[in-house]
Amino acid sequence: MQVAGSNYRAVNWHSDAAGSSGAVQWIEQRLLPHRFQQVVSSDPEQVALAIESMQVRGAPSIGATAAYGLALAWQKDQPHFFEHWMPRFRMTRPTAVNLFDACAVMESCARVGADTDMMIERAVAYADAEVAANQCMGEHLAPLLAIGERRILTHCNAGWLAAVDWGTATSGIYQLHEAGESPFVWVDETRPRLQGARLTAWEMQQAGIDCRIQVDSAAAWMIAQGKVDAIVVGADRIAANGDVANKVGTYHLSLAAGRHDVPMYVAAPSSTFDSACASGNDIPIEMRGDEEVTMMDGTDASGTIRHIRVAASGVAANNPAFDVTPFENITAIVSEQGIWQP
Ligand code: MRU
Repeated sequence: MQVAGSNYRAVNWHSDAAGSSGAVQWIEQRLLPHRFQQVVSSDPEQVALAIESMQVRGAPSIGATAAYGLALAWQKDQPHFFEHWMPRFRMTRPTAVNLFDACAVMESCARVGADTDMMIERAVAYADAEVAANQCMGEHLAPLLAIGERRILTHCNAGWLAAVDWGTATSGIYQLHEAGESPFVWVDETRPRLQGARLTAWEMQQAGIDCRIQVDSAAAWMIAQGKVDAIVVGADRIAANGDVANKVGTYHLSLAAGRHDVPMYVAAPSSTFDSACASGNDIPIEMRGDEEVTMMDGTDASGTIRHIRVAASGVAANNPAFDVTPFENITAIVSEQGIWQP
């Protein structure tokens, strides 16, 4: 998608002019919306750390970054690929199954004796397939979102930053916008890391889509007031029975949507579906550190990024990063392959 008139992806393969050695390039998402900065690294450990520290986040972007990182590991350190780099990438984040899907794809490619060029081509193809899936799912999603006054609520960032390009939930919104339908987006700020306020609102601003940030606890009331025509979110893992793990707060949105008859859509590519998990009970939910809840980041009046404490020092926090929404609470799951209803 475009930033200040130029095209970017959340993550991509970066070749030098001679094309002889490679690197991974990603947008440092922790700095947004205050600074737009790309990082280039030819060190696979730095790529693994970028996922772990959430410089790159969002299920499809995590998967694509791991694919690129493993191609890099094959290029730089082939003797340790299976016993070090495969487990290293698999341990970076636990919930988004796209990570494990990408790792499995790259491992199979390596096991059949691929050379470095083939590994790089496989990683590039993996990321390109995610982008094509997003675009296609947006085509399924846009007509569903073209209802009422096109006031769409979304949670977290299931935008192009989270999904290499187009986004999952936002793909339908972008396509509605391109069709001249003038969508309006209620952006849940999404505590604790504020991916909605920091990333989705910035994406909407870059695309010229009207939006307003609201605190997560305003969402149910706005739904009750009839001010939301549809809800669309992404997913980090979808179990075989259709239960959806997504950013914490998604479950309570589904309760309000059901109570007030507002359609709630989940948009995710095939790489987010996990047939090995029978139901949401089998999905591992990432527990994150107390500091994400008790501290906050932002810029002061001079534009300097500050890390400040909001809770009393020493008070403990509870910080599950995801929750599970039962399939029955969802109007439909939309992927590049079609639309599923409970
Ligand atoms: O912890 P994050 O920022 O990686 O979580 C991302 C999400 O949960 C998003 O809601 C998203 O839907 C999944 S990625 C399109």
